[in-house]
Amino acid sequence: MARELITLLSSREIDKMRRAGHLAGQLLHHLSAFVKPGVSTLELNDEAERWTQAHGAKSAPLGYKGFPKSICTSVNEVVCHGIPNEKEILKEGDIINIDVTLIVDGYHGDTSKMFFVGEPAPVAKKLVEVTNECRRLGIAAVKPNARVGDIGAVIQEYAEAQGFSVVQDFVGHGISNVFHTAPQIPHYGDRGKGLRLRPGMVFTIEPMINEGTWEVDLDPDDGWTAYTLDRKLSAQAEHTIAVVEDGVEILTPYPGEDM
Ligand code: MF3
Ligand code: CO
Ligand code: CO
Repeated sequence: MARELITLLSSREIDKMRRAGHLAGQLLHHLSAFVKPGVSTLELNDEAERWTQAHGAKSAPLGYKGFPKSICTSVNEVVCHGIPNEKEILKEGDIINIDVTLIVDGYHGDTSKMFFVGEPAPVAKKLVEVTNECRRLGIAAVKPNARVGDIGAVIQEYAEAQGFSVVQDFVGHGISNVFHTAPQIPHYGDRGKGLRLRPGMVFTIEPMINEGTWEVDLDPDDGWTAYTLDRKLSAQAEHTIAVVEDGVEILTPYPGEDM
């Protein structure tokens, strides 16, 4: 396999990534207050677009490869890339991933988080907790000279030990003034294998964890929405991170949270 060229970002560029990333985390936090029964996913989208413009930023998903909205809203059995829709009304017991990507001064901040609509069922609560822990463990594996495979291995081992499965069709990605670039960051794999991490690498870690089968199914009508093949639940959590000399920096912190 040909080696991909991985861009290392300068501290000036990482500074711009931090500004975009922190604003993206603040947007997720802002949207959290709107998640409740009776709200449509289109209302979440429209509030996100309004807030983004008011803060002088741009929504990266809008028009990206033809994506029609500003954020992704993935409810229950939707794995990722759910399209906000006025007919999709949140109801008690739903779980929803909101995935936002902001562009500030040309650089991208990409982050997502799960929210509960009212009280979740026990399995939904466990799936979301395990998914958050998968992201935390994956991030904790990042430091100079670690390997990309170390990240996937720790995520896969934990998810499967908890009785869940790891989606393989979507992976984390390099990100900078480009939305999706090299390297690819699988959320499964083998310790000690893959690209060696270096300070200045910036990428996302965004595990999608399923209640049942890992297999997914693309909506044939919209070409975007990915569902679990068995229509059981899926959850996701994403941060944009930078490899730094002494480990890792989370560029998209969620206000009030460590990871
Ligand atoms: N934010 C998603 C990711 O984590 C990508 C969404 S692309 C879109 O990579 F076109 F669906 F918005
Ligand atoms: Co991403
Ligand atoms: Co994202």
